[in-house]
Order: sequence, then C-alpha cells, then structure tokens
Amino acid sequence: MSKTLERWGSKRAFILAVTGAAVGLGNIWRFPYVAGENGGAAFLLIYVAFVILLGIPVMMAEILIGRAGRRGPMQALGALAVEAGASRHWRWLGLFGAFTVFCILSFYSVVSGWSIEFLVASINGNFRGASAADIGAGFDAFLANPGLLVFNHTLFLLMTMVVVAAGVAKGLERLNNLLMPLLYGLLLLLAAYAATTSGFGTALSWLFLPSWEALTPSVVLHAMGHAFFTLAVGACALMAYGAYMPDEQSLPRAAMAVAVLDISVALLAGIAIFSVVFSQGMDPADGPGLMFVTLPIAFSELPWGSLWLSVFFLLLLLATWTSAINLAEPMVATLQGFGWRRSVSTAIVTFSVWSIGLLSALSFSTIVDFRPLLGRNVFELVSSIPPDIFLPLGGLLIAIFAAWVLPRGTAAAALGVGERGYLCWRHVVRWVSIPLTLMVLLSGLL
Ligand code: TRP
Repeated sequence: MSKTLERWGSKRAFILAVTGAAVGLGNIWRFPYVAGENGGAAFLLIYVAFVILLGIPVMMAEILIGRAGRRGPMQALGALAVEAGASRHWRWLGLFGAFTVFCILSFYSVVSGWSIEFLVASINGNFRGASAADIGAGFDAFLANPGLLVFNHTLFLLMTMVVVAAGVAKGLERLNNLLMPLLYGLLLLLAAYAATTSGFGTALSWLFLPSWEALTPSVVLHAMGHAFFTLAVGACALMAYGAYMPDEQSLPRAAMAVAVLDISVALLAGIAIFSVVFSQGMDPADGPGLMFVTLPIAFSELPWGSLWLSVFFLLLLLATWTSAINLAEPMVATLQGFGWRRSVSTAIVTFSVWSIGLLSALSFSTIVDFRPLLGRNVFELVSSIPPDIFLPLGGLLIAIFAAWVLPRGTAAAALGVGERGYLCWRHVVRWVSIPLTLMVLLSGLL
C-alpha cells in the first residue's frame, strides 16, 4: 500500500474512533465476569494500575508507530525498522497482531451475536414475567442451539465487515460521532437507575473494597490481559488507526482521554450489573453467562424491565460493533499491504473469521467435548489465551520497538509533545512498562 493520505476529520474524531475501539464487550461483558471470577475489588485495582502503568504508555507506543509509518502495521513496522537500521523482521510483529485479532474477533463476533438475540428477545418482551429458573434454562437452551448461534454470528460479522469495506476513516467517523455520546448517556442512565436498587451498597463495597487474600499470580495475569484487551492495545489494531491520525494532535492527551472514558464505562457497567446481581442475591462468579443471565432475571422483575433491558442490549451492540470494526482493520490492512484490493481483503477476512468463529459458536453444543488444549474447548481457548498471553506479548514487542529501536527524532515527532515529554514517556516505557509486562507474563506462565 502506498502512503496513506486519508485522515480522520478532526482531533475529536480520532479520540472517538479510539474510544469506539476500546469500549465494547470488554467493558460491559468481559470486565464484570472476569472481575467476578477474580475477587472483585482486588482485580479492579490491579487492572486500573496496569491501565496506567502499561496500557496508556504502550497505547502511545502503538499509535506513534502507526503515525510515524502512515501505512498498514506490517509495512509500517518493516519500513521504520529499515530506516532505523534494524532488522526488517520486525514486520512479523504486524502479522502476529493480525493473528491475535483474528482469534479475538472469532469469539467476539459470536458473543456479539448473543446480544443481537437478546436485544430482539427483550424487545419482544420474552423475559416479561419469566422466573429466574426459566431465564437460566432459556440461556442454556439458546447456547445449545447451534443454528441460532451461527445465524447471529454471521449477521454480526456481516454488519461489521460492511463498515470495514467502506474504508475505516470514512465509515467510522460518521458512526462514532453519533454512537459514543449516545452510549455514554445510556450508561449514565442505567447507573442512576442502579443507585435506586437495594444491591447498590453491596455492589460498591464489592467493587471498591479489596480483600487481598484473593490475589494470586493468575489474578494478576488476568488483570494485565484485561488491561490490554479493554484498551485495544497489543495487536497493532490501534497502530492501524494511528496511521490516520491528524499531524497536529498530541498523542498522550488522546491516550489519556481514551483510558479515562474506557475505565469509566467499565465502572458504570460494573456498578449497574453488580447492583442488580446483589439485589437479586446472585453469584458474581457466574462466568461468561453473568450478564446474559442475571440482567434479564433482574430486569424482568422490575417495572419497565423489558424497556431497560432493550436499551441495555442496544447499547452493548453499538459499542461492540465499533470494537469489532477495529479488530478487523489490522487484518484487512495487512492483506491490502500484500497488494490485495480492499474489497477482496475484506471478503477474505470475513470468510476466514466466520469459519473459525463457527468453532466457538459450536463449542456450546455440537463440539462441546472437543478440548484440544489444557482441557478447554475452542471458545474457552480463544477467549482466554489471546487476551491474556498474545496481547501482553505483542504489547511488549511494540513497546520495545517504539522505545528502543525507533530513532529519537522519529518517535518524538510522532508523539507530538516535544523533547521533554518524549523523554518522560520513554523513561516510563523502558523502565516500568517493559519490565513489568515481562515479569507478570513470566510469573503468570510459570
Ligand atoms: N477493547 C475492545 C473491548 O473492550 C476489544 C478490542 C477492540 C480489542 N479492538 C481490539 C482487543 C484490539 C484487542 C486488540 O471490547
């Protein structure tokens, strides 16, 4: 691909685009269930610390590489490495990122399909007056229905790839300008509603008062993986967006704005979900079904329950859509870099993600006993190993490239904050982010 001339229309559009990538299932579906399985407040605090110490600095590293390279991740890394007198092999990092988002999008699309199903069901009022047992059984029956899961997975993926095919800057800008403010408003409304429920106090103390005995190396590894996942960092996906970043924008400010928005969405969603969980005396450690089972149960017993629930699933679907578009972009950009047309690249990505996604969709029924690794089925594997291991590993290499390999002049210019700001950032990446990521990865794996 020749140097990209396309740019986001404004600074705000860039921040909205990255926020759209960051805010998604990670905040609203994954954060509550992973926090629920990992002790609540202790997990939350470590994850926030990782967002600050690793997530933000590595996000800057990733975007600055894209901005300095102004083309697809693989080509940007290769060209910048050669300019810096380093090995061209750095470009394989772009391919590793594409592989990571490939795995992630394959299950992401399946779970997003659940939201489509639940949105339709709640609009139809299917949960009205249903008992807790009915709803739990209904969710299990839904998961055991391969046809429905595959249909929704297909629908969601097509919805995503249509926008991607149009070209990210054009397709996304209009979408994000509308969606992000709407999403935020809806979440505030939901959290305000949660404050009127009886579980609100318990939810707050469970989320914010840590019990440190719950803390193990695996909890720390999950918290790190989730910090990368929720910020969309570590797979060169934001690198692909950085290529479209306006020249005059300050990167650290954009990164911090995104992180603050991202964490606050997770907190608002967490408060809303756990208030409901505790009001109804449910178990926070219910796993991936947490949100999908507990919310319909809870809302079904409330006035206007179907309306609240529809609003919630609509919001989730919109957020998920903008994230999935970001997940697809590095793959499409990589194929384009090999000389394929955008439409053809998009078609190839759609078909391969769809096929592998089938394995996740069928992990709940047809191939539930197919456990190729560590006793986990395909869904469990792709929803844990890429976020917890591949993203931190990719982030580590991205950080090393930006802070050790890229020449000072190139990196400082792409960061957009002058010499002192650059040195400060580089110091944090070299002496905090890189060693910390390495340490947590090794201790979590061993
Ligand atoms: N951050 C998104 C979420 O929380 C998921 C996501 C979008 C992502 N783009 C990514 C994760 C790139 C890793 C890499 O739902």
